[in-house]
Order: sequence, then C-alpha cells, then structure tokens
Amino acid sequence: MRKQTIQIPQEEMDRQFDIMRKIRERNENKEKVTGRRPVADVRTFGCQMNEHDSEKITGMLLAMGYRIKEDDQAPDLVIFNTCCVRENAEEKVYGHLGALKKLKKDNPETVIAVCGCMTEQPTVVEEIKKKYKNVDLVFGTHNLHRFPELLKNVLDSGTRIYETSGTDNEVAEGVPVERDSKVKAWVTIMYGCDNFCTYCIVPYVRGRERSRRPEEILREVRELEARGIKEITLLGQNVNSYGKDLRNTDGENSNGAGYMDFAGLLSYICENTNIPRIRFMTSHPKDLSQRLIETMAKYPAICRQLHLPVQSGSTRLLKMMNRRYTKEQYLELVGKVREKIPDVTLSTDIIVGFPGETEEDFEETLDVVRKVKFDMAFTFIYSKRTGTPAATYPDQIPDDVVKDRFARLLDAQNKNTHDSNVKHIGETLEVLAEGQSRTNEDKYTGRTQGGKPVNFTAEEDVTGRMVLVKITGGQTWYLEGEYVRDV
Ligand code: 5AD
Ligand code: SF4
Repeated sequence: MRKQTIQIPQEEMDRQFDIMRKIRERNENKEKVTGRRPVADVRTFGCQMNEHDSEKITGMLLAMGYRIKEDDQAPDLVIFNTCCVRENAEEKVYGHLGALKKLKKDNPETVIAVCGCMTEQPTVVEEIKKKYKNVDLVFGTHNLHRFPELLKNVLDSGTRIYETSGTDNEVAEGVPVERDSKVKAWVTIMYGCDNFCTYCIVPYVRGRERSRRPEEILREVRELEARGIKEITLLGQNVNSYGKDLRNTDGENSNGAGYMDFAGLLSYICENTNIPRIRFMTSHPKDLSQRLIETMAKYPAICRQLHLPVQSGSTRLLKMMNRRYTKEQYLELVGKVREKIPDVTLSTDIIVGFPGETEEDFEETLDVVRKVKFDMAFTFIYSKRTGTPAATYPDQIPDDVVKDRFARLLDAQNKNTHDSNVKHIGETLEVLAEGQSRTNEDKYTGRTQGGKPVNFTAEEDVTGRMVLVKITGGQTWYLEGEYVRDV
C-alpha cells in the first residue's frame, strides 16, 4: 500500500539552519584572516528538476556564507548535481570528476561533492568510492535538505562521507532558494515517479511520488508574485497524478481538506494569485484528464502549452514500454486538447531504438509525428539503463539502424518545427521579456504564451515586462521580431 506523504518536521529544518549559520560564521572568519571568502562552484546536469535543485543548493551555499563562482576563481567547494537518465549524461560527470584531480592536487583542501540522480544508484557510489578518491561527499536526491549537515561533517572530520537513499515518503519545506531569474521561477509541486516506464531509471533514483501540500505551493507562488515574478512553471515528473499520495484512507487530504487533484491545484493557484503566466511539466498522457483540459481553457493565466511525451507511435512498443496508452488513444487525446484549446503549443519526447523496435514500429512513430505536427519534439536515442526492465530485453537495436531512424525522425520533425514557427510571421504576439539575448546583445529575448523563444529588437531595456512583439522571421529554434508596445 502507498505510504502517505509527510512533511519533514520543522525541528529538523531548524537544525539545518543552525548548521548553515555555523558554517557562515566560519567562512566569515576565514575571510577576515585571508581576505577571501570561500568560493563554491555548482555544476548542473540534466533536467529542470535538477536545475531547480541546484537553485536550492546555491541558496543553502549563500546561507552558509560561500561566494558563488564567477569567472576563473579557484573554487574551495565543487558540487556536481548529476543526471543518469541516459548513459552519456553519466559519462560526462565521470569525465569532469577525472579532470578535477589536478585541482585537488594543487589545493588538497578543496571539497568535491557529488549529488543528484546518479548517486542514488549503488553501483555508481561504489565506482566513485573506488576510482574517484578525490570525491569527499556523496549525497542523494532524498536528502538534499541535509546538505549543510553532511558538508559540516566533511569539513569537521576530513573524511569522505556517503549518504544516499533516505526515506522516500517525505518532503522538505523551507530550503533556501537562490533563483537564476528575476522574471520566471520553477515551483516543484511533486517529487518522484510511480510509473515505471520500462526504459526509465527515474523511479529508482527519485523515489515514489510525493506531493507538496497545496497551501505550501500557494505560499511559495504568492511570495514569488510579491517579488515581481511574472511566470511560474510547476514541476513534477508526472504532474497529472498530483495529490494522490496526500489522500488518507477517507479520500481526504492529510490536512482534512477535500482531495485536490492537479486541475484543482491549478484552479486554486489561479483563484488566489494574480501571477500572469503559469506553465507546468511533465504530463503523462494516461493521466491527462478532461477536467485539466477544461481548466487550461478556462483560466487565461494558464499558458496554452502542453508537453505530452508520446515516446513511440507503436502500440506494441508502448505496451513494452509500460506507457499504458495506445497510439489511437494518444491521437484522440491530442484531438480533445486541440478541440478545447485550438492554439495550444504541443511538444513531446520520442525515443528511437527501444529494444525490439522494427521498421514498422518506427513508421508508426513517424506517422504520429506527421499527423500531430508537434510544435517541438525532444528526440532521444534509447540508452540502456542497468536496473530497468528494458535493459534485459532481447533485440537491442544496432547503432547504424538507430542512427538512420533518428535522422529520419529529425527530418520529419524539423519540418513541423519550421512550419510551426513561420506561421507566426506577421502576427503580433505577447512575449515576457527575460533579458538580453545571449547570442546577440543588441536584442532581447523572451517567450510567447506557447513557450516559443523570441529574439527581438527594442529601443530600451524591457526586461521583466510583458510586451507585444511583431514577428518578422522564424528560424528553426526561435522567432525574430520587433517590440511594438507594452501589454
Ligand atoms: N533512453 C533514452 N531516453 C530516455 N528517456 C528516459 N529514459 C530514457 C532512456 N533510457 C527520455 C524520455 C523521457 C525524457 C525525459 O527522457 O523520452 O520523457
Ligand atoms: Fe520516467 Fe516514465 Fe516516470 Fe517519465 S513517467 S519519469 S519516463 S518512468
């Protein structure tokens, strides 16, 4: 039976805050002696969830009196927040860890820490123990809030510390967050995943689904609104199953309030805040309810954007992937979404080369891509993940066949992405300006309601403003335009 999710007691969080204060005093004293504040370098790999976790790590580091590395300062502490969803993500981290051997040689005091999804696999911890003796601290995804205490133990004892896989029915509230943007923000609504798609390592490393309480989520959104944040993205591996784990045996929330599903949570946020834009990801097609589609259509603040991973177009493969929908059900769902929200921007994830994928299976995927005409697709070559059921399936597909299919898939989707962009030329769209463009400092960058990036010219700094932009061009990855006026 599913364990009910509980919040980590305030006393435990207070203890971490005490430790943060102690480390801060230590770092301030160091600065008095050496004239230099200890520097921390956070390196992030992987998805939005990890990016947001790194914002929490950075928040804790600042509370502990570290300076966050800019330019080429030598760091006193390096933290790798890792991803293991595909093998190449892991290889990258090992490469970086190897490259740090020199840093540690030059300054043996440097602390190197590894956290995130990779470290929740026992084989990885063994590998680090054996081969990467320069790593001082390993912690996991469930005990992120204990980072200050673990770091203090390393600093005090000078020994290596490994602590992963804590309990997995808890959520931590109140961890300090240093957000990257002043315009938009991530808000985690749930952790973990219970779906066990047969190719995917996430349920093993992120644990069971755990939802944050609606009141805590609302409190965070209100704080962000008060600070002038204009756009939030609600994060979860499968947001559509939000709240199930908060139900007690009477079907009530643990606080006695009625059970709130994801559509209910969205309405609750829309009714109680004035945040102009709300996005969310990721949605699993099997759990996307009509109620959610109607809620999206009802509230103007909910962006007309849906990330709906299809993974494959072959019903046979979808079954082997344990996705629990058929090709026809997926197409029907897209139809229902477009009926209620005709201008929806639809993106997806697709895996090529799942074990046993035949040419016919792949053609079914191409058929879905051509029929749905996704605005955007993230395409992946299947990567065998030890510990997942699919790793033991026969008929792993040879590299040359996968590469050929991958190229054909890209061709089909690039045409869709291009068509989806050029259709906006001549339109005037609402864009939330996020700042200067990284590639062209004369331009500003932002996103449309549908989430498409736009680079545009403007006479003055429009960062943080909701503006109208006349679209003048459409490249594969972004739109081009000119500022017209504020909304
Ligand atoms: N190989 C390739 N892609 C994968 N994904 C998840 N696991 C694997 C794997 N083993 C992809 C899925 C998922 C996205 C985040 O990563 O498409 O939606
Ligand atoms: Fe992985 Fe499937 Fe969960 Fe997504 S829904 S995180 S693909 S197991």
